[in-house]
Amino acid sequence: MASEFKRTLVTAALPYANGPIHLGHLAGCYLPSDIYVRFKRLKGDEVAFVCGSDEHGMAITMKARKEGVTPREIVDRYHVVMRDALADFGIAFDHYSRTSSDRHKQVASEFFKTLYDKGVFEARQTDQYFDPEAQQFLADRYITGTCPRCSHDAAYGDQCEKCGATLNPTDLINPRSTLSGATPVLKPTTNWFLPLDKLSDDLRRYITSHPEWKPNVYGQTLSWLDAGDGLQPRSMTRDLDWGVPVPVEGADGKVLYVWFDAPLGYITATQELMGDQWETWWKDPSTRLVHFIGKDNIVFHCVIFPAILMQHGGYILPDQVPANEFLNLEGQKLSTSRNWAVWLHEYLADFPGQQDVLRYVLTATMPETKDNDFTWADFQQRNNSELVAVLGNLVNRVMVLNHKFCGGTVPAAGVLPQDREALGAVAAQSALIGEALEAFKFREALGHAMDLARVGNKYLADEAPWQVVKTDPDRAAAILGVATQLVAALATAFEAFMPFTADRIRTMLGGAPALTWADLATAGPWIPVGTALGEASLLFQKIEDEQVAAQRAKLEAAAAANQPAPMEPEQPALTPLAPEITYDQFAPLDLRVALVLEAERVPKADRLLKLTLDTGLDRRTVLSGIAEHFAPEEVVGRRVILLANLAPRAMRGIESQGMILMADNPETGKLAFVQPDSDLPVGATVR
Ligand code: MF3
Ligand code: ZN
Repeated sequence: MASEFKRTLVTAALPYANGPIHLGHLAGCYLPSDIYVRFKRLKGDEVAFVCGSDEHGMAITMKARKEGVTPREIVDRYHVVMRDALADFGIAFDHYSRTSSDRHKQVASEFFKTLYDKGVFEARQTDQYFDPEAQQFLADRYITGTCPRCSHDAAYGDQCEKCGATLNPTDLINPRSTLSGATPVLKPTTNWFLPLDKLSDDLRRYITSHPEWKPNVYGQTLSWLDAGDGLQPRSMTRDLDWGVPVPVEGADGKVLYVWFDAPLGYITATQELMGDQWETWWKDPSTRLVHFIGKDNIVFHCVIFPAILMQHGGYILPDQVPANEFLNLEGQKLSTSRNWAVWLHEYLADFPGQQDVLRYVLTATMPETKDNDFTWADFQQRNNSELVAVLGNLVNRVMVLNHKFCGGTVPAAGVLPQDREALGAVAAQSALIGEALEAFKFREALGHAMDLARVGNKYLADEAPWQVVKTDPDRAAAILGVATQLVAALATAFEAFMPFTADRIRTMLGGAPALTWADLATAGPWIPVGTALGEASLLFQKIEDEQVAAQRAKLEAAAAANQPAPMEPEQPALTPLAPEITYDQFAPLDLRVALVLEAERVPKADRLLKLTLDTGLDRRTVLSGIAEHFAPEEVVGRRVILLANLAPRAMRGIESQGMILMADNPETGKLAFVQPDSDLPVGATVR
């Protein structure tokens, strides 16, 4: 539990420096971590927040190859792009580092060396494909060849993108190096493996000591441990030339596995931030380590990184790993390569100054427990009916009425029961917000904040100061006093979610001082009576249908201009569901098991095979349009499912007495037999 800790180190996954940032990144881990940290700071808790660019690994070298530049150029370019985009959206890291720095090289090398000297690693020799022309070992992605499953001639060493098969490089038929086109040869190489199998008991003890982890995180982690053959040793080195060189003898041409070095980037960043204080944040058990990540990073943060830290010794372990699921966009998986994404810099160009609208909508739809969908229609709706109509409307009415009836200074708040009740909502709602945030329930927390704004609107509507002012100006001022206090409190209640908006509200309120979270637990006042208010301006603008249509069109156009993703397999398209039928329409079909006794081609009919079938009841002739998929000898002896009561029909002068059932394989586009269970006798009926 959090209470035994004195300080919290919060990390957000280091993004690969190979492209700009899109809203999936933001919703996945940068926004929740930022909200959490801002809330902690409001509470006065000691917290540090680090991140940085992940600059090694295939994600970088592939991109560099694609653009024909060096990996160094790629990471230098995108490190800046990503750092600035995250800053533009208010992600308030204490430090944003990078893993290609010299210091990081030292940190990662020291870790590897320590584990190596302790004898943790197992050196293993394996055969890897080697490009004799380029004179280097080939990562799986750098080998292409023919897919053994679907015959696609450009499958990769790890996957066929046509049929989705998971492959090993040696599965490929006619393998070729994508570097030189040469035929690769198998060559033995030695790498150092982390024996996760031997560490499973320690890991299990560690993981089961955290039943409080989110169910998606806890479940996925345990399922790794419980997998059929358990945890397997995993190589921590690679035969590559981009990365941290393996710091031991006899390791020329090898670098650390990117997932060995990247999480250590959290340590590098802390050192850069804290100087010689850094060890308190990594070695003192009263420090709580919290990793915000997306779900594809769970195993690395909950199994591999803890294993590395344990083997090194002297380090604390992650205490919480609040991983989010994925955010989809308009019903489809976000994809950088297909350009199916909303890029942060493009959003800002189209909606200048409206970072908080995106922060709000992404928090409200955050994929906390399951994948979620971002749509522009939802974005518009939440902006118009929540931000504009509830929060923006309240703040604007309070400002305008104050200027109109109270000379633009904050009046004293009323003390009638309804006034106290409205003001009391601040403490009540902030307690709910705080509880939800400590439990990493961001959507719920945001809902509680919006409910506080609703309290304000209802109070104003019920008390109607614009009416009361006609007969009782003092009471009208007292009502506005209450409402102004609520607005001041709202700035802080919303601050972690919408920091830009919080600042603007405080500016409107005449430069009201920033509050602490503890202030919200009191009865106020949250802004001194008599403060001269600033000018009213609208916090949010209505988003029109045309803007939504334009965003959708932009997305479609960008996606259409792009080739299908080279990195992601296309989903096989399934035939849509046919219209509903009743059982009475199905029952008349006589389906039964039959045996193919003979098969022959039909002259002048390329598609047809003439089959002789034993149905158990009789022996009959059936014509089947499968000749392009199966040779006669592949069919004889098969047991098939026959639609036996289909009206006979003549083709090419031969009468066909039924039809055999075939399935369409959506992955290969080929026909396949539907085969009855082996112990079903010929003649058995199928219902
Ligand atoms: N770069 C990785 C990704 O984008 C995340 C690295 S997180 C860290 O999936 F642990 F390595 F830092
Ligand atoms: Zn294939």
